[in-house]
Amino acid sequence: MPKMQPGEAGQVMRRFGLGDEDVAAWHESGLPEDAFTGWLTDRVARRPSGRRAREVYGAEDVHDFARRPILDALAPGPGDHLLEVGCGGGLLLRDALATGAAATGIDHSAEMTRLARQRAPGAGVVCAAAENLPFAPNTFSALAMSVVFFFLADPARVLRECRRVLRPGAPVAIYTTGPELRGTPAAPEPLASLGHFYSDAELAALASQSGLADVQVRNDGGGQLLSARW
Ligand SMILES: C[S@@+](CC[C@H](N)C(=O)[O-])C[C@H]1O[C@@H](n2cnc3c(N)ncnc32)[C@H](O)[C@@H]1O
Repeated sequence: MPKMQPGEAGQVMRRFGLGDEDVAAWHESGLPEDAFTGWLTDRVARRPSGRRAREVYGAEDVHDFARRPILDALAPGPGDHLLEVGCGGGLLLRDALATGAAATGIDHSAEMTRLARQRAPGAGVVCAAAENLPFAPNTFSALAMSVVFFFLADPARVLRECRRVLRPGAPVAIYTTGPELRGTPAAPEPLASLGHFYSDAELAALASQSGLADVQVRNDGGGQLLSARW
C-alpha cells in the first residue's frame, strides 16, 4: 500500500460509517500503516468491534437478505439444533429459536458474542474460531453461515470442522458474496481485496470436494446461497 497521506485513514474510515472512536482505536493500535486495510476489515466485518459495529450487527434488518433464504432452506423446527458459524449480533439465532429449534452460535469476535447473547437469549453463544469448533461430533442437525464464508482463509478446513460436529444428513445453508459484487457496496474496496470470491461453479466444487451432497448454488444478483446436506 502506498504511504498514507495525513488524515487518509480517517477519511477511509468515514466512508465506512466509522467515527471518532474508531479513528482513535486505529491510532491507539500502534500498528504500521501497511496493516491498515487488515485492521479496517476486522473492525468493520471480519472481527467486528466498536460502537458502530454493535449498532450495525444488532440492527433488525442486518443481512436480512441472507438470513431469510438461509432459514427458508434449513426450515428448522422443534427437535432441531442449529449451529451458526460467525453469528455476529445473533439475529439469525433469535429467529431460529422462534421456530422451536435449539440454536448455538460461534463467533471469534468477543463483542459480537456479547451482542448475540443479548439479542438471542436462549441461544448458546461461544467465542471460538470456525477452524476449531469446541463441540463434540454429531452435535448439530443444521448449519448456517451468513456473510462469513468470504472471510475464511481456509474454507475447506472450516467445512471439514463443520462436518465433524454435524449429524449425518444435516442440511447446510451458506450465503456469500459473488465476484460480480466486488467493488460494490456489498463488497467495497479495500475490504474486497482481502476477501475470497468464488464463481457459482467454484463454490459448488468446493462443497462437493468437502463431502457435501445435493449441492446447489442459487445466485440472486451476485448473492450466492449454497445449499447442501451431509
Ligand atoms: C460480516 S459479519 C456477519 C455476521 C452475521 N452472520 C450476519 O450475517 O449479520 C462476519 C462475522 O463472522 C465472524 N467471523 C469471521 N471469520 C470467522 C472465523 N474464522 N471464526 C469465527 N467467526 C468468524 C466475524 O467475527 C463476524 O461477526
